[in-house]
Amino acid sequence: MKAWSGRFDKTTDALTDALNASISFDQRLYEEDIAGSVAHAAMLGAQGIIEATEAEKIIQCLGEILEDIRAGKIEFTQENEDIHMNIEAILTARIGDAGKRLHTARSRNDQVAVDFRLYLKKQIAAIRRELLALLAVVMKKAEEGKVVIMPAYTHLQRAQPTTFAHYMMAYANMLRRDVTRLEDCLERMDECPLGSGALTGTTYPIDRWATAKALGFARPTENSIDGVSDRDYALELLSALSIMMMHLSRFSEEIVLWCSWEFKFVELDDAFATGSSIMPQKKNPDLAELVRGKTGRVYGSLVTLLTVMKALPLAYNKDMQEDKEPVFDAVDTALACLPVFAAMLDTMTLLPENMRAAAGRGFINATDCADYLVKKGLPFRDAYKIVGQLVNYCIKQGKTLETLSIEEFKNASPAFDEAVYEAIKLENCVNARLSVGGPSAESVEKQLESVRAFLEERV
Ligand code: ARG
Repeated sequence: MKAWSGRFDKTTDALTDALNASISFDQRLYEEDIAGSVAHAAMLGAQGIIEATEAEKIIQCLGEILEDIRAGKIEFTQENEDIHMNIEAILTARIGDAGKRLHTARSRNDQVAVDFRLYLKKQIAAIRRELLALLAVVMKKAEEGKVVIMPAYTHLQRAQPTTFAHYMMAYANMLRRDVTRLEDCLERMDECPLGSGALTGTTYPIDRWATAKALGFARPTENSIDGVSDRDYALELLSALSIMMMHLSRFSEEIVLWCSWEFKFVELDDAFATGSSIMPQKKNPDLAELVRGKTGRVYGSLVTLLTVMKALPLAYNKDMQEDKEPVFDAVDTALACLPVFAAMLDTMTLLPENMRAAAGRGFINATDCADYLVKKGLPFRDAYKIVGQLVNYCIKQGKTLETLSIEEFKNASPAFDEAVYEAIKLENCVNARLSVGGPSAESVEKQLESVRAFLEERV
């Protein structure tokens, strides 16, 4: 029989029950639900709202139920709708009246809100740990690539020379912001809605600070209607995860490109690649592609929940039961992708000769060649035009800037002399870029130090 059957003359339709029930997915929240109930019962006892002995009985039995669930001894029922009513029903079946007193001064609305926040706080901690581990791997790759010259691109056209280390530090900075986005999200999520009741609190003398503290929250939420109505904390997490996945997806895309014969900048370890069922020669970067593909699922979850919430009047509406599956899926996806991506990157071999060779074609030192003329006194626009004409000439002659004779340079501008060859050497082009954030060894070292300090603060 349903807990709320008193008000009804008929039993519910079977299809109604099936659509209404959330136990198939919210059973994942059993640990948090029990933790919330233990804190609530202890507070009810301490405040004299229920007998201290009854509170103790409830708490002890909840502990036993927890053990039984963990041991796989409990079967949840659709009859009891969701995890909250399932556990309450088991409790009442085991200890009778004391169990029936647990729901005093509480509603499933604040119960589900507290469960969800507790669960997400744990998941954020887990995702953050994996993300920090990935960031450490990116740093290791940066160290490996300190003297590895590669072309950097705009419009996927070779643009200017850099080092693999500088390139990796771009991702390190993105991932560092992803870590702090999770931290910010956690900080705002860290408020306990328990005690909001259905929506307007309660007449019982509850102690919201006690339950908030017992559950490890920084403080209680300040408004009871807000406490049960909003899911912005889940949306913030989904936003942070979407951005993080977007970064991983771009990184994945580059790895896919780098693995192609057209680039061959890296080689994936065999343990992190797959073959083809028909083409014997294939070694495919499936994991990178999957991370790129799974990014779509996480965006989907964000858009799902934003859409569920967009026109709901305050306070709780059953639509909000639709918050859980997309959030669970996004969290699972992030936790599945991060460690595999980290391991794939960790075991990826750099192919410096190929990167260097690609950097040697495509005139990526043309800007440096123009800068050289500027140092000789030419206005940048004039220098830019002269070098553009030189590149045009090289393409027609099948040459590179490095292979032009000094006469050919001088024909383009009398300002050229022998020193131009040093000025356009890729290693010199890179190391002359001393600007803050640039690719010179010195600039990259500062970037490494900064992220190293960030990581050290967090281990
Ligand atoms: N299963 C519900 C959910 O996940 C719990 C809250 C139900 N509250 C209610 N008033 N029906 O949203």
